[in-house]
Amino acid sequence: MSRPQLHTSVYPAIAPETIGQANKGQVAVVTGAARGIGAAIAEALAKSGADVALLDLDEERQAETKAACEKHGVRARPYACNVLDLKSCERTFASIQEDLGPVDILVNNVGANARRPFCMETFESFWSGVEMNLKPAMACIFQVLPGMRQRRRGCIINIASRAGTVPMPFGGAYCTGKGAIIRAVSCIQKELEMDGFGDNIHVYALHPGATLSQPSLSFHPDVAEAYPQEAAKWAQFHKLFKCPPAQCAQTCAFLAAGRGKALRGKYFDCEQDIGTVVAAGEEGLKGLYELKVDFLGGLPNDGGTAVAVIEHENK
Ligand SMILES: NC(=O)c1ccc[n+]([C@@H]2O[C@H](COP(=O)([O-])OP(=O)(O)OC[C@H]3O[C@@H](n4cnc5c(N)ncnc54)[C@H](O)[C@@H]3O)[C@@H](O)[C@H]2O)c1
Repeated sequence: MSRPQLHTSVYPAIAPETIGQANKGQVAVVTGAARGIGAAIAEALAKSGADVALLDLDEERQAETKAACEKHGVRARPYACNVLDLKSCERTFASIQEDLGPVDILVNNVGANARRPFCMETFESFWSGVEMNLKPAMACIFQVLPGMRQRRRGCIINIASRAGTVPMPFGGAYCTGKGAIIRAVSCIQKELEMDGFGDNIHVYALHPGATLSQPSLSFHPDVAEAYPQEAAKWAQFHKLFKCPPAQCAQTCAFLAAGRGKALRGKYFDCEQDIGTVVAAGEEGLKGLYELKVDFLGGLPNDGGTAVAVIEHENK
């Protein structure tokens, strides 16, 4: 199987012209839609015909996203929602149902990396970092999944990170939260398959690509002072961030339109050519694009049941 091409711009398979109005009439919710990747996702979904609910706390910039979405002739509604607060999510999703109708597409985009080593965290700061990258996504999933199961349709996309798949110093809380959402996605999809919802309800975890979306991604001054070499390394690494927010955003529009279902339940890196990856099909993607552990000698990871089988065979 050939390697998928890597991209640092919007490419033909995910281009707005290719996707057209594939999400017309759908109701989409995007969290953290006021700026950066979330704002681009809201606009890409609007461009593909979906009405969009924009969840954020930054009302001024939310209004800018709303105006950008409305240019595409869809309904766009801003909601002042703190996605870290379950009650706020419950109230907001009830309002969305009333204003726009049942949710077809949910994109959980809110997340943040404090970039601190464990030795400079308190338990509280560590835990709030884990929460920031897991709780909002789960809180919103619990709002929409029962309705999606009832209507036997829906798409949930979670903006995770490569950090959830590799260990990263200074990213303990971030990696933990992002890793957890990637694993949650695979568990949710497995249960959906088991209950016969198969590809009618499809769930994904995405790395948006190394995306230039924030004005500053530098270390906090106290961390930079304690670890100057790491801070300098990070500044160099950040220069490699080249993907525009639209690349992840258009990938979301592609997935929401049901064009990437071979990847359901999996983790995908938006720098890869999704057309090539999806063309490999479910069989071709078996055991790929997911979190796993490999053992010496190819021993299977089945929690000890293999030993029981071997002992039984040796009796
Ligand atoms: N930029 C990258 O290269 C990169 C790489 C990997 C993963 N990601 C992930 O992509 C996602 C978006 O990143 P970004 O750089 O665009 O983020 P950003 O910080 O620019 O934007 C986040 C948005 O979320 C909103 N928000 C924050 N807390 C909120 C809350 N409690 N309730 C409601 N809204 C809230 C903010 O107001 C802001 O509008 C994040 O999950 C991030 O971890 C980004």
